[in-house]
Amino acid sequence: MSFAQKHILGIDHLSREEIIQILDTADSFKEINTRAIKKVPTLRGKTIVNLFFEASTRTRTSFEIAGKRLSADTINISASSSSVVKGETLEDTARNIEAMHPDIIVMRHGASGAPHYLADRLDCSIINAGDGAHEHPSQALLDAFTIREKLGRIEGLNVAIIGDLTHSRVVRSNLYLLNKLGAKVRLAGPGTMIPPGIEKLGATVYHDINQAIEGADVVMMLRIQLERQGKTLLPTLREYSRFYGLNPNNLKLAQENALVMHPGPMNRGVEISSSVADGPQNVILDQVENGVAVRMALLYLVSGGEETEG
Ligand code: CP
Repeated sequence: MSFAQKHILGIDHLSREEIIQILDTADSFKEINTRAIKKVPTLRGKTIVNLFFEASTRTRTSFEIAGKRLSADTINISASSSSVVKGETLEDTARNIEAMHPDIIVMRHGASGAPHYLADRLDCSIINAGDGAHEHPSQALLDAFTIREKLGRIEGLNVAIIGDLTHSRVVRSNLYLLNKLGAKVRLAGPGTMIPPGIEKLGATVYHDINQAIEGADVVMMLRIQLERQGKTLLPTLREYSRFYGLNPNNLKLAQENALVMHPGPMNRGVEISSSVADGPQNVILDQVENGVAVRMALLYLVSGGEETEG
């Protein structure tokens, strides 16, 4: 089946069928990552530029590894070491990169909509690696891949997403995706970190995290994004941890085999205790591992890949 999307700008514009196609393609690629020789020729001759205007450990490394495992040439550009520091605009930067004929630009930017802006102006494919507080589609896809892999399905599951919802692009992408795949989403966090009207995206909102965790199949914790908070939205980190942190006691309210997820980076001892982050229910490093397979699938599909292959 051919993939209709040239860009991956968000989950919002993907259909349920396209999401499943991405997950199934990632499934077929995952095994490559455990081979002795972790390379296939699928994207030989393609050039991928990772253009990151914000810090990243997981996403940038994962896209780079994904490209290399598919034999593409991958180049990393970070804003701090580019001519952006000399005042070059986003559009000029992108047009100059495009003049070197990349096939795909993977982009992270602090402004919501920045990848859409480039997609309207450039000819190459654009993959959004996180734009402001808007979307982080590859994160939601690797989260879904991990849930499906561990629990065998997504439809009908109760997924609790807890933390700083206002500044989280992960929560928005997950809301779109989980609703399209038939999960029931519960959101919880302090009132100051819950954007008004977010329940309209398809979720039940709680202020008491115990209610959100009760009976949940998946508990996904979000980082407090202190760097994006213009003003103090919480009294102290200790108080936040007491009322909104996941610990062994409140985790007992969830299903016995509930998954504990976190997109990273974690604030240990704030939104999640170390004993839970490292405990038997955590799948946090599985998320990271699966991120490579999911990003291989995205690079492959936007490059015109038609069938899943291993
Ligand atoms: N989850 C995530 O986006 O992590 P990085 O910021 O390290 O890429």
